[in-house]
Amino acid sequence: MRKLILALIGLGALAGPAAALASPESDREALVRQFEKHFPELKPGDYVYGALAFSPDAKAQYESIMEFPPFLEEIDQGKKMWETPFKNGKTYASCFPNGGRNVAGHYPYYDDKLGKVVTFEMKLNMCREANGEKPYGYGDMKTMGLLESYARTLSDGMRVDIKVQGSGAEAAYERGKKFFYTRHGQLNFACASCHVDSAGKVLRTELLSPVVGQATHWPVFRAATNVVTLQKRYAGCLKNIRAVPPKPGSEEFNDLEYFHTYLSNGLVMHSSVFRK
Ligand code: HEC
Repeated sequence: MRKLILALIGLGALAGPAAALASPESDREALVRQFEKHFPELKPGDYVYGALAFSPDAKAQYESIMEFPPFLEEIDQGKKMWETPFKNGKTYASCFPNGGRNVAGHYPYYDDKLGKVVTFEMKLNMCREANGEKPYGYGDMKTMGLLESYARTLSDGMRVDIKVQGSGAEAAYERGKKFFYTRHGQLNFACASCHVDSAGKVLRTELLSPVVGQATHWPVFRAATNVVTLQKRYAGCLKNIRAVPPKPGSEEFNDLEYFHTYLSNGLVMHSSVFRK
């Protein structure tokens, strides 16, 4: 931990407070421009690789792992969950347009009737409940994690397409943005300290990914059986800076996911991928 603290101090970067009430699109464009300026060697499509985009060696290693992913069996378990009918005979596919193909890029969205952000995972649980099944725990990687690891592959190749329209949606987006730029934890870092201001730099032994592109490839497998959803990753980052993270599926994390995913708009989705 001492090493981590020293590394953090070494980064020395301070996240500036975000400009008040810019539009989501101007937020996204400003970040894209900032990264373009810092990383002229990266093409827009490279951002989906996160930190790997800065290391040809790590990227080559990633690509060889992805030729025969060690987690195919896990995704297969997710496929079985997706295809196994509920007690009433229906399946998840019945809850989505197009049988669940090319839909995940629209999540999260803001539901005006519910007055809150709906994530893809919430939609899977809403589907379960509508069909008389108990919802899965959002932090439960053996159920929700594996189900999602397959369900999202049905949207591979889709581009992230998040909309922020109306006052409720704008307020949720702003809450997520505030969380991202606010310092947390005993080490007093914001998400932006690492994934905006220090993107492309090395923290201890790890290269830091830019926030743009981070939402395109979830869940990830960090080893054959270690599936990690996006909100679990948020929690992991917060624990590293000694913050007590909100729970996966909480409104705080859902709002953060809404803002965070918006920043990946237009980038191609691909699930599930390997990450160290
Ligand atoms: C102290 C620095 C630090 C802070 C603060 C931090 N992270 Fe991270 N984060 C990392 C490191 C290191 C990794 C692993 C390398 C990488 O992919 O960037 C990572 C990885 C990630 C990833 C996975 C990227 C991928 O492509 O697999 C996401 C998403 C992420 N962080 C989001 C967040 C969010 C949201 C916050 C704020 C709640 C946050 N992080 C705060 C250091 C940080």
